[in-house]
Amino acid sequence: MVRIPLFETPLSLREPPQDRLYPTGPGLYDRFGRHINYLRVSLTDVCNLRCVYCMPERMTFRPRHELMSDAELFQIVQALVELGIEKIRLTGGEPTVRPNLVEIVRFIAHLPGLKMLAMTTNGILLPQLAEPLARAGLKRVNISIDTLDPVQFRRITRWGDLDTVWAGLEAAEAAGLRPIKINAVVTRGFNDDQVVPLARLSLERDWEIRFIELMPFGSEAEFAQAAVVSSQETRARIEAELGPLQEVPGHDPRDPARPYRLPGARGTIGFISTITEPFCAGCNRVRLTADGKLRLCLLRDGELDLLTPLRQGMSMAELKQHIVAAIWQKPWGHGLPEGIIPQSRLMSQIGG
Ligand code: 5AD
Ligand code: SF4
Repeated sequence: MVRIPLFETPLSLREPPQDRLYPTGPGLYDRFGRHINYLRVSLTDVCNLRCVYCMPERMTFRPRHELMSDAELFQIVQALVELGIEKIRLTGGEPTVRPNLVEIVRFIAHLPGLKMLAMTTNGILLPQLAEPLARAGLKRVNISIDTLDPVQFRRITRWGDLDTVWAGLEAAEAAGLRPIKINAVVTRGFNDDQVVPLARLSLERDWEIRFIELMPFGSEAEFAQAAVVSSQETRARIEAELGPLQEVPGHDPRDPARPYRLPGARGTIGFISTITEPFCAGCNRVRLTADGKLRLCLLRDGELDLLTPLRQGMSMAELKQHIVAAIWQKPWGHGLPEGIIPQSRLMSQIGG
């Protein structure tokens, strides 16, 4: 058994009794029996937008030497896949601004054992990147579009151009990165009047439109807490205008967005209700930050540093032991109800 410097995090949200022993392999498990097979990898903390709820306009980013090099990234990701990760989502900041992205995708996509490689992006660079990324092995993209109004889009993203994102979305579809999912964070006073037009997209297109509750992080927490809109409110607004939402059967309980359908719609609508209806019991994921830390819960600051020991020459076998032990300690749920707000990073430094 390895000893690792882990943090103490109080547990919450109906932590179940731990009166059973769970299998420890093959595959990654935590002490509550949750099977961890999904890794989100933040490729960079840099972004080419500055969404008002995400980061300040004058954001400072980490110096390059603090981030994983391509070779370090490959080593760590390979170790995690060998341990049992089956699905990877590339995130940022904005993942498409990472140099050498197509090569990174090609390497990860070909790791034996990996079943799904996806990406969450703001779409700005997809017009030129969708096709090469698909050829390199990327399967799907989630694109963030908070509003269909170009003026409002610029106000939210501070300098984004909706037409470019739309062209990126079409390029992604043409390249076969389907089914497309659209992420919309609902922010009061910025786009809460846009949930109906966004939901309407699902009538004609076979996309999944997902409405996300705004989450608080560090310096942006106060803004988020003042501007959060509950999924219940968003849903009521959509139903009042477009009719009742029908639950889509056969939903994967580990997907945080339970899908619904408007009458006669081709696509679906989902709600990610992290704040009002936490889905921690079905959590199957861990995160790797661009600076090489394994983050066990999006909304708790506890992390295991993988990059420093790797640079100090720790063997892969030992590093893997640390990973297994850390994942076993994954916290049960977030602490927002007790007022515990993650302070060490912004969303853009974790990758959502
Ligand atoms: N709360 C919820 N979602 C957020 N995103 C960025 N910041 C926040 C936040 N504070 C969203 C982005 C993108 C995804 C990666 O996370 O809009 O869709
Ligand atoms: Fe960039 Fe995404 Fe943050 Fe917007 S939400 S600033 S697109 S990282």
